[in-house]
Amino acid sequence: MDKLLLIDDEADVQYSFRRIFDSPELELHTASSGEEGLRLIPKIKPDLILSDIRMAGLNGLETLRRIRQLDPKLPVILMTAYGTTQTAIEAMKLGAYDYLLKPFDVPKLKALVTSALKAARDMRQAVALQPMLESEDYEAGVIGRSESMQAIFKLIGQVAATDATALITGESGTGKELVARAIYHYSRRSERPFLAINCAAIPENLLESELFGHEKGSFTGATQLRIGKFEQCDKGTIFLDEIGDMTSTTQTKILRVLQNGTFERVGGGESIKVDVRVIAATNKPLEEAVKAKQFREDLFYRLNVVRIQLPPLRERRDDIRLLVDYFLRKLAGPGGKPKSLGQVTLAALEAYHWPGNVRELENVLRRATVVAKGSAILPSDLPTEVLSAIQTDKPATAAASGTSGPATVAVAHSASAAQPMDIPGIARQLFRFARGDSKLRVLPAVERELIIEALKETKGNQVQAAKLLGITRATLRKRVEKFGIRQELAVH
Ligand SMILES: Nc1ncnc2c1ncn2[C@@H]1O[C@H](COP(=O)(O)OP(=O)(O)OP(=O)(O)O)[C@@H](O)[C@H]1O
Ligand SMILES: [Mg+2]
Repeated sequence: MDKLLLIDDEADVQYSFRRIFDSPELELHTASSGEEGLRLIPKIKPDLILSDIRMAGLNGLETLRRIRQLDPKLPVILMTAYGTTQTAIEAMKLGAYDYLLKPFDVPKLKALVTSALKAARDMRQAVALQPMLESEDYEAGVIGRSESMQAIFKLIGQVAATDATALITGESGTGKELVARAIYHYSRRSERPFLAINCAAIPENLLESELFGHEKGSFTGATQLRIGKFEQCDKGTIFLDEIGDMTSTTQTKILRVLQNGTFERVGGGESIKVDVRVIAATNKPLEEAVKAKQFREDLFYRLNVVRIQLPPLRERRDDIRLLVDYFLRKLAGPGGKPKSLGQVTLAALEAYHWPGNVRELENVLRRATVVAKGSAILPSDLPTEVLSAIQTDKPATAAASGTSGPATVAVAHSASAAQPMDIPGIARQLFRFARGDSKLRVLPAVERELIIEALKETKGNQVQAAKLLGITRATLRKRVEKFGIRQELAVH
């Protein structure tokens, strides 16, 4: 649950906040003065503070200054009915998360609170690399023991120790944002702010001003001077997500800020210097955008100093079991008992090609946890596309209870028709089944089935069948005899 502390001396404002933020996920505390607010902070440990500026005693700016001494990362939104440019600038320079004018535009206030709470969470929840699954803290961890993930952990460690710009690439849902946060938490800037900006979510023409701020009157709608994220995040870390989507002016400005730490506000002449560490991410092939002249080549090379390329989940299937374990524990919550999984369910999860990567796996498990009636997640609790990654000749539930007879596993290609054949994945499924059937000798059983298939395919032509199987005709003949295949295949 997120905790919000409102500091405002007006009872009316406190009342309307109670109504606006009446939600089971939020705990609202109120204070009527800056002094009271400061006293409450260590007790409540709020995730976000909203403070009025004009108050008797300590005003909002002074309160903010003292909050900053207590905690340089706690987001604070300042509010006032008497907006002047000067206080807005001062508030932002003191490290306010944002600045809001009364009376509130409620949807805007809510959106701002949501984004400030996300920023608070990003900064607070340390991201552990390979956390111990037995430990109680499942808030955030980068999970993976596969070789490709080991290499990534090493890179994160190396880059975290420096101030170098890092570029994180990978398909959607592979953990780019998670890795960006891990770098931040392991870096020497971890005590300073971290701000994530999704470049694709902000209209192109507004992104430049969002990042670098603007002077009053610099464009229609720029009614006040605005401090941008780079200025606000001085000494901190900025995460530029979806970096592929920006205009060439914004690209040029980012290049300059990376090269010498300076920029100008939109419509401004003054050169402003900042010390900001940049981490960027994209799921688009930037190399291609460079070739197509949509992305500046020099910016690309500047960002690409350290490149962290996250593998798609289907290329590290060994980690699926571990991730499943992690998510089920996380979904059970502290003290809760994680749901269990049968062999077939796990086999399906391991066989599916996961176009949405780890995010999709997490969502499938979240849904399955809700849908599952008992303490175990059954194959029928999985979406059909996941389930159809494996198909058995017996109803899935029977196979799960270990009562399915001989392991005649057929791998359906429908879900992964465009994928190359995943032999390790198929082998893994076979093993799952074999483990549930102590009498089964999996290798001869598979060999036998493959030979029968090849002979059927070639209508009993042993020369062609041997070729299909990649063995010599002599070997094939020996196997055919060994397995006693001839009789049952009725060779012509
Ligand atoms: N290795 C991992 N271990 C544990 N959780 C992970 C891992 N990778 C991703 N996740 C989780 O999967 C979800 C998606 O990750 P994230 O948002 O970092 O992906 P992304 O690469 O930024 O995706 P997109 O390109 O769509 O923005 C998050 O909930 C994240 O915590
Ligand atoms: Mg992302």
